[in-house]
Amino acid sequence: MGASKLAVIGTGYVGLTTGACFAHLGHHVICADVDLAKVERLRAGEIPIVEAGLDDVVADAVAAGRLEFVHGSTAAVADADVVFLCVPTPQGEDGSADLSYIEAAAAEIAPSLRPGAVVVNKSTVPVGSTKVVERVLQRDDVAVVSNPEFLREGTAVADFLHPDRVVIGSSDPAAAERVAALYRGIDAPIIVTDPASAETIKYAANGFLAMKISFVNAVAAMCEAVGADVADVVAGIGADRRIGSAFLQPGPGWGGSCFPKDSRALVRIAEDHGYNFSMMRGVIEVNDEQRARVVDKIRQAVGDRGLAGAVVGVLGLTFKAGTDDLRESPALAVIDALRTSGAVVQAYDPTVPPMVADHRATVLRGIDVRASALAALEGADAAVVLTEWPEFASIDLAAVAAVLRGDAVVDARNLLDPAEVRAAGLRYDGIGRR
Ligand code: UDX
Repeated sequence: MGASKLAVIGTGYVGLTTGACFAHLGHHVICADVDLAKVERLRAGEIPIVEAGLDDVVADAVAAGRLEFVHGSTAAVADADVVFLCVPTPQGEDGSADLSYIEAAAAEIAPSLRPGAVVVNKSTVPVGSTKVVERVLQRDDVAVVSNPEFLREGTAVADFLHPDRVVIGSSDPAAAERVAALYRGIDAPIIVTDPASAETIKYAANGFLAMKISFVNAVAAMCEAVGADVADVVAGIGADRRIGSAFLQPGPGWGGSCFPKDSRALVRIAEDHGYNFSMMRGVIEVNDEQRARVVDKIRQAVGDRGLAGAVVGVLGLTFKAGTDDLRESPALAVIDALRTSGAVVQAYDPTVPPMVADHRATVLRGIDVRASALAALEGADAAVVLTEWPEFASIDLAAVAAVLRGDAVVDARNLLDPAEVRAAGLRYDGIGRR
């Protein structure tokens, strides 16, 4: 089967990456978004998100005439063989996923879909959502398929083009085959199953990864109590091929637009179907505690003066390095707690300019965002690393000692070498380290 005509609804990091990469594979893709300003920026060649390699993939595909951007879904789906729904599925108030964007997109495209078209849920949706889309579409000549994304922010292009697997959930084998054929050129196993299993795979994968991180953060707390070193413990357990060492890096807890939402949704979906997923509740609880543990470390670092009136220099605002995304960032959660305790917070992040003029200005209100790491540490009682940006790992520690008012470093990402920090005349506290 040669190139197909695809439509992608939603141009966030999932939709834009999916559209651009399918065009890269040779398909003809039309990406649609409700936000006209965003469509115009994309048409002007602007990529509004930090995603390694995405600008090149988009530029090449547009130049080859295989990728275009339109405002509104109707225009995108008229000739499409397959339509990918890549719209947000935010966390509802009660923990359940809010499907309103998916339902709205399905309702909008229903009258324009060609007979025999396939609609694909790419967004992370609760188990059973394939039926929800079928019900909204009211088109028995259109198949609905689940094809969950496993893209990490910041490496979405690499994760799309070199996945560990492609998962397709469909009760219609022909529709599953048509979606599988789109991935020709991708070297990865294709797992075809029913929709409920495909949707469960997505949540279970994220739940398991979040569990690994919470587990290592809990082990780090134990290491501090028993005088062990978490780096050696992680090396010792990670050498076991059944455990592996990926996603065992201690930190301030997981954040972002996925793990917090998907872990709560997993508990909620289980609960709605009569199962109390107590292990997942524990994973979430450990994660919430981790932020409080970091705040306690900072409280100890500033000493008897206490946090009220203390100046804390924070390095890193995004939820992880390699992205500009602040959503559910542990750094912002820690900063909120510090400011609630009366501390003054100066901060630096390579993706956040001092005069924040974009949609992120609201979440950053009250934080004194500086232009460099050393500027953020100027006159601070403690330096705190909250995001693992590489430039922080090679920071000039003598210069840090010179600009700090205090002498404490709290390294919530275990990025720095404790011996080097101490050699610069500073106190060091990491996560689970001696
Ligand atoms: C995640 C999943 O990895 C991806 O497969 C899914 O499709 C979307 O959600 P993402 O949220 O972009 O991707 O980031 P990820 O790299 O998974 O990190 C999530 C959080 O865990 C970040 O806050 C990160 O700092 C933290 N983390 C990750 C750790 O604290 N320790 C680790 O070892 C790895």
